[in-house]
Amino acid sequence: MKKRYILTIVSVVFMFSSAMGQNKTLAHKLTKNETSIDYKVAKLLSEMTLEEKIGQMNQYNGFWNVTGPTPSSGDAAHKYEHLRKGYVGSMLNVRGVEEVRAVQKIAVEETRLGIPLIIGFDVIHGYETLSPIPLAEAASWDLEAIKKSAEIAALEASAAGINWTFAPMVDISRDARWGRVMEGAGEDTYLGSKIAIARVKGFQGEDLSKPNTIAACAKHWAGYGFTESGKDYNTVDVGTSTLNNIIFPPFKATVDAGVKTFMNSFNELNGIPATANAFLQRDILKEKWNFDGFVVSDWGSMAEMINHGYAENIKHAAELSVIAGSDMDMESYAYVNELANLVKEGKVDEGLINDAASRILKVKFELGLFDNPYKYCDEKREKEVIGSKEIHDAVLDVAKKSIVLLKNENNMLPLKKKGQKIAVIGTLANDKTSPLGSWRIAADDNTAVSVLEGLAEYPDNAITYAKGADLVLGEATFPFELEINTTDKSGFEEAKNAAKNADVVIMVLGEHGFQSGEARSRSEIGLPGVQQDLLEAVYAVNKNIVLVLNNGRPLTISWADAHIPAIVEGWQLGTQSGHAITQVLYGDYNPSGKLPMTFPRSVGQVPIYYNYKNTGRPAANEPNSVFWSHYIDESNTPLYAFGHGLSYTSFSYSNLKVKKISEQHVEVSVELKNTGKVKGKEVAQLYIRDLFASVTRPVKELKGFELVELEPNETKTLTFQLTEKELGFYDNNGDYVVESGDFKVFIGGSSVTVLEEKFKL
Ligand code: NOJ
Repeated sequence: MKKRYILTIVSVVFMFSSAMGQNKTLAHKLTKNETSIDYKVAKLLSEMTLEEKIGQMNQYNGFWNVTGPTPSSGDAAHKYEHLRKGYVGSMLNVRGVEEVRAVQKIAVEETRLGIPLIIGFDVIHGYETLSPIPLAEAASWDLEAIKKSAEIAALEASAAGINWTFAPMVDISRDARWGRVMEGAGEDTYLGSKIAIARVKGFQGEDLSKPNTIAACAKHWAGYGFTESGKDYNTVDVGTSTLNNIIFPPFKATVDAGVKTFMNSFNELNGIPATANAFLQRDILKEKWNFDGFVVSDWGSMAEMINHGYAENIKHAAELSVIAGSDMDMESYAYVNELANLVKEGKVDEGLINDAASRILKVKFELGLFDNPYKYCDEKREKEVIGSKEIHDAVLDVAKKSIVLLKNENNMLPLKKKGQKIAVIGTLANDKTSPLGSWRIAADDNTAVSVLEGLAEYPDNAITYAKGADLVLGEATFPFELEINTTDKSGFEEAKNAAKNADVVIMVLGEHGFQSGEARSRSEIGLPGVQQDLLEAVYAVNKNIVLVLNNGRPLTISWADAHIPAIVEGWQLGTQSGHAITQVLYGDYNPSGKLPMTFPRSVGQVPIYYNYKNTGRPAANEPNSVFWSHYIDESNTPLYAFGHGLSYTSFSYSNLKVKKISEQHVEVSVELKNTGKVKGKEVAQLYIRDLFASVTRPVKELKGFELVELEPNETKTLTFQLTEKELGFYDNNGDYVVESGDFKVFIGGSSVTVLEEKFKL
């Protein structure tokens, strides 16, 4: 049974005798003589001892100040010895040319075969100069901008010695309590798949062997975003149809886009931890989808299988993981310590080791590391590229595109540029760290542009700042839990006084950057601390409020929606955050973002998402009816729907036409007009509903969108093609089917669409 998994590459290995000269520089010579990477990998593999092959499957976290004295005792010394012996294939969290060069030098110059390391890092939304958090970028619906952002991240990270990012996270999630929704593209599979492709292409570029592109990693395979009760690392229990239709497609899209690596996930799926899940890693990923890259475990996830109650001990964990297709062990010490014995005892077939090591070596060859292991280690480039103007301009551009105008009563925005007294309230307005979010290992504190700094660039208005109340008590230091201020309202008076005398009040409220991200689940998703009270206190003295939200997840802000005239979703927008927000507030940039995730009215509605199933009782059949699918104390509708977002202009949709081209091909067209006074961009969204199917279909499914820029009064006809790719679904055997019958198509500027038509297949 195990043999089934062994790659054909293994047969090539036998072409080479293990008695070939044990030349340390063999690895480098090979590339000059042979062209096929598979051949080179097989040849190199035939030179390697079992321990060296297992070494390729071992990834260590940065373990000592590599440019300082060599460690002589303790864990660091142990890891150092392993590095010298060639028992380490990859390291993470070693960064900067000097440090990367130091570890690479040991791998290349001191080990027997001189195989270079692959250097991984969480380049999630930038390296040192940060783009918006991925959820925010998804709100741009601008695939070019998202790709560019990944390109820029790769450019900066690769200049710092890194050649592999643990991104994109393509987990779909419908649960705003889960802190990691900030790291994904939101709730929708179609949008998520398009964004996943854009990000993989951005990171990896056209040519992975270039020094400014890096290998991408689709994570977390699989189901992590469906963690029960939104609590991180929790159990996942999803049905087959959700797995096939909602969770898998973005991962499949990354495979088709050529992603080089996958990361498995912490959760279990059907009682089997993902790390040891052969269904996921072998059957689907490597066999059905033909993925030929490698799978890295998540941090310590092999060892965690003991806690899951799946592995008896670490040796058992290593055995289960390798058989199930985990190729590289991130920080469990399971492979490096246990695999050789497992092979010797006959519990693990060496063919599995050959397969895993080959996959890893292949990516190293593709990166060009064998041609030049120091290609990412150029001090001059590091100096020139990191923090360059080009990078700052690019992150500002995507930051503006990520902002969503949630509400704008009586066109309160944009603000007048002159003669206004503006009160700015909220500590987040003055925060230069929080906008960086929680995935910002390489960015220093206080390196984001704050909203106050952004406002200072419009000097013809008078700004008064009052913090109102601290959001966080003490220092906000990763990775420690923040202490949120829930009692101190001593600054309220000052804030109210500032507001009383102002023409406009800008309140910057929301979550600190460290309140979302890994292990940052929340059970309440309103404004944390005393911010809601602050908002109401200020409102009592001046209703002219623009609420700017900073947050990493949808928030329940029903009160604000009912009372505050203008609400701007400003997420955590990265290094250029303050500039992006103020350019939108003043109308120098007309917002075009649309929500990639539904905003609930209250946390009890979660999980709430637009593409739900109809159920047998979707609506009350008679007045005062009780027995239908609803809450007795809350509406079924969201506060802000998926796809919602306003502009400083307005748009109208008309003339929806559906034309049948062939059996499984329908063309849909619609006219979109800019009916307002300024130029603006709209994301026209197309949804379908398959009315009856062998597996029930959602009430709406996004199947197309177009970002269109229009001058005032300009009209464009938009055309969408619906082919079998859009019209089908996965049945419960995992087979893709298109079923004939009745469909509906809907078009509009959000998932609450304005036009609809019928068609038949
Ligand atoms: C754990 C996270 O789940 C994963 O996404 C990340 O890439 C690794 N840690 C490495 O930092």
